Amino acid sequence: MGIFSTVSKVVRRSKYFLLLLLSLSVLAWITNFSGETVKSILAPRATTQTFIRGDEMNSGTAEPDQSNTPIEKGECPQVSPLLKGAMNLSFASSLKLKDVESANKGVTEGEYEPSDCTSRQSVAILIPHRSREKHLLYLLHHLHPFLQRQQLHYAIYVIQQAGDATFNRAKLLNIGYLEALKDYGWECFIFHDVDLVPENDHNLYVCDKQPKHLVVGRNSTGYKLRYKGYFGGVTAMTREQFLQVNGFSNSYWGWGGEDDDLRVRVELQKMKILRPPADVARYTMVFHNRDSGNQINKYRMGLLSQTLQVWKKDGLNSCSYKTLSVERLPLYVNVTADIGKPQV
Ligand code: BGC
Repeated sequence: MGIFSTVSKVVRRSKYFLLLLLSLSVLAWITNFSGETVKSILAPRATTQTFIRGDEMNSGTAEPDQSNTPIEKGECPQVSPLLKGAMNLSFASSLKLKDVESANKGVTEGEYEPSDCTSRQSVAILIPHRSREKHLLYLLHHLHPFLQRQQLHYAIYVIQQAGDATFNRAKLLNIGYLEALKDYGWECFIFHDVDLVPENDHNLYVCDKQPKHLVVGRNSTGYKLRYKGYFGGVTAMTREQFLQVNGFSNSYWGWGGEDDDLRVRVELQKMKILRPPADVARYTMVFHNRDSGNQINKYRMGLLSQTLQVWKKDGLNSCSYKTLSVERLPLYVNVTADIGKPQV
């Protein structure tokens, strides 16, 4: 009898104990579930999805996706893993356009974008040009792989001045900006001389919160900045920054002054010019004699003294020209324009 009563007590107690255990588990499950729900509502959705490489797509047992849904790519990394740093540049006299084309199969009509990630910026490179075919070839040869290593979505535009009136670099760059925007909403523009080749791919061809001057030094000047306010050679401005200063002046015919004028416009808008470190912002200048048709502009100082008065009406908003052709060549878009001639 004594044994039976002890056993029945134990059984009763363990029933209560089991009941208690069950209630505790139910409570724990409810808390956990509601916590997760709150967490998933509050958590911001990921803005980018992880890229699935082509060779991983059909792995495993899942059925292959027949729906043709484009695979979302993740954003390219902040620092491209493809960068090589300082490069030895080559300027072989035997180089041909065909060689550069076959080395850049991923470029279509001057445009490229990485296949495995989404670029952080879309950049239009504008190169004013007239009769400098060899320089252009060397630049394309180096610039295409350089930009691809930076994982940029980019396109190269070469803007040719038709006829033999005095050269006007600044007006050609305004035209490049206006024409490139007809193709795509580029967010960043690089204004690039044809004879300057970048030596180090850490010199990033992207825009910043302020306008950027990318040529701190060049071989021909012992890699020293030419003067404190120098803003020539290669510069980077966002679409908005360039619009805000009304672009370049259209009035500088011949060599010199137009880049100083742009600096004044930038400063009038209280913008500040940024430069990459000197050991990175290095260029090789391909040697040439002064071009005929690009004599020193003797009016440049006079024009510069007028910038404050004229910048609002001399620039992008007054850039008149006639597009003679837009050729979509494999390595660049070739825009040829009649830009008129100097008034004086
Ligand atoms: C000219 C600039 C030129 C600079 C460097 C200045 O005197 O006005 O247009 O880029 O010299 O050569």
